[in-house]
Parts: sequence; structure tokens; C-alpha cells
Amino acid sequence: MMNTSDEIKQMVKEKYDEIARQSKEQNQSGCCGATGSCATGVTVMAETYEGLSGYVTEADLGLGCGLPTEYAQIKAGDTVLDLGSGAGNDCFVARSIVGDTGKVIGVDMTEAMITAARRNAQNLGFTNVEFRLGEIEDLPLAANRVDVVVSNCVLNLVPDKAQAFRETYRVLKPGGHFSISDVVLEGSLPEGLQAAAEMYAGCVSGAIQKDEYLDIIKRTGFVNVQVQKQRLITLPDDILSNYLNEEELAAFKADGTGIYSVTVYGEKPDVSCCTPGTGCC
Ligand SMILES: C[S@@+](CC[C@H](N)C(=O)[O-])C[C@H]1O[C@@H](n2cnc3c(N)ncnc32)[C@H](O)[C@@H]1O
Repeated sequence: MMNTSDEIKQMVKEKYDEIARQSKEQNQSGCCGATGSCATGVTVMAETYEGLSGYVTEADLGLGCGLPTEYAQIKAGDTVLDLGSGAGNDCFVARSIVGDTGKVIGVDMTEAMITAARRNAQNLGFTNVEFRLGEIEDLPLAANRVDVVVSNCVLNLVPDKAQAFRETYRVLKPGGHFSISDVVLEGSLPEGLQAAAEMYAGCVSGAIQKDEYLDIIKRTGFVNVQVQKQRLITLPDDILSNYLNEEELAAFKADGTGIYSVTVYGEKPDVSCCTPGTGCC
């Protein structure tokens, strides 16, 4: 059982370092890399990007659980930040919307992901897509710089989700917003799944209750918080049976615990319209 945030983050880094060096097909095979460890649950949640403007196959490692750029109301000229950008999948889709006059910044704590993403950007010849090595809990960006934040299947991996949303709030411009796809739960995971480090890296064990997730966002100060999309995720029995015996598996299926992919929206209030006396807020 993992204990500290640092241990969890180290394990997540190691897992995604391994994944960054593999193709989408290798990740989908269910055996996640050099350690020979199997069935992390990564990739079983991904949605198809094919056909989306800006989609780059090399950047798609099959690690997402939604299509946040489809819901993020990004406009030409915007500055977009992608939290946990991986090999750049959502950044390149965002780049096709912001165009030459906008900017896209991806932040990821795994060096091999940043290397892969930078290589992809270089091959595409983009000068306004930048990848920065750093942690979401301490973003390498100044305050009030970003129009739109997106993220795809990442914040469930962050032990301090409240800090992740505080940082999101800090870097957004007043009136800016986010659309974040993530994994949340309704009901509690059985102990066998909670304790599994691999299921953590596979975006399941680190997921929290949907209500708690939305509360954290509202407590941060975001307004107009909405769930833009919700989809039930069914993990295959051959993955679950690595962590649960037959009896536990049957109980898990019967107790109504749901693992969901959600895309959540929130806005940072535009304080400039809240000048006392203007009456607009
Ligand atoms: C499931 S992958 C998703 C990658 C990408 N968003 C995609 O859809 O292809 C999670 C990514 O988040 C990064 N990550 C996890 N925790 C992080 C943290 N605290 N700070 C920065 N990056 C983090 C990992 O390194 C990994 O690249």
C-alpha cells in the first residue's frame, strides 16, 4: 500500500516514463512495459480522436478518458494550458483551434513525456506549442495568463487535488475557464483495487467521489461548475481479476460502484466586473 504523496508521484512518474517509450499499440496490449507488469487499466478508457482537426497519431498514446478540447470552447488566439500533457495529444488538437495567433502550453512532470511531446511539436514545425517540465501542484506559469485550461485523465493521479485546482485558478485569467476530463467514482472501490499501485497509475485507485471532486472545484472559487459529459467505464474482468478474487469481483459488480469518465467545466470569476458600485455582480 502506498502512503505518501511523494511515493505515489514517484510511482506515477515511473509508470508514465515507461509508457512514453512505448507505442499506443504496446500500451493497448495490456502489458505495460519493461517490468512485465500487466493490465494497468490505462487505455481502456480512451476515446477516439481520429477525425478531430489537429489530431496527431504519434501524440496519441491512448491515455485519455475524454475529449476535453471538444467541450472547452477554445477560440482562435487563445492561450491554452494542458495539465499533464503526455505526448501532446490534446495540445495539438487545441493548436488547430487557436491557430497561429494563439499559444498552447503543455505541462507534465515526466521527462520522457516532455521529450516525446517536444519531438512531436518539432516534427510538426509548431513554434507556438510549448512543453514545460513541471508539476501541476506548482505550475511553471505566472498568474492570470491562460484563457482556457484543459486536461485529460490526469488529476485523478494527483494526490492533492485541491492544490491542483488552486493552481489552475491562479494561472487562469479572470473570466477564463477549464474543461477537464477525468475519472471519478460513485460508491467505494474494494480494498484490493484501492491498494493496487498499478490501478493508481491506470487512473482508477486515485479517483475520488464525484461529489467530492465537484466540491473541491467550487471551494477553490470556480463558478458555473457543470458536468459537461459523463460516461460509465466498465473495466474488463481480466483486468479486475488481477486484483480481486472471484467473490470480491462478484461483490464489486453487484454493489453498484461506478467508475465514470466525466468532463467538468468551471469558470474563474471575472473580478474586473465586480468593482463595488458597478452593480454588475
Ligand atoms: C494518463 S496520462 C494522460 C496524458 C495525456 N493527457 C493524454 O491524454 O495523452 C497522465 C499524464 O499526467 C502526468 N502527470 C501525472 N501527475 C502529474 C503531476 N502531478 N504533475 C504533472 N504531470 C503529471 C503523467 O506524467 C502523464 O503524462
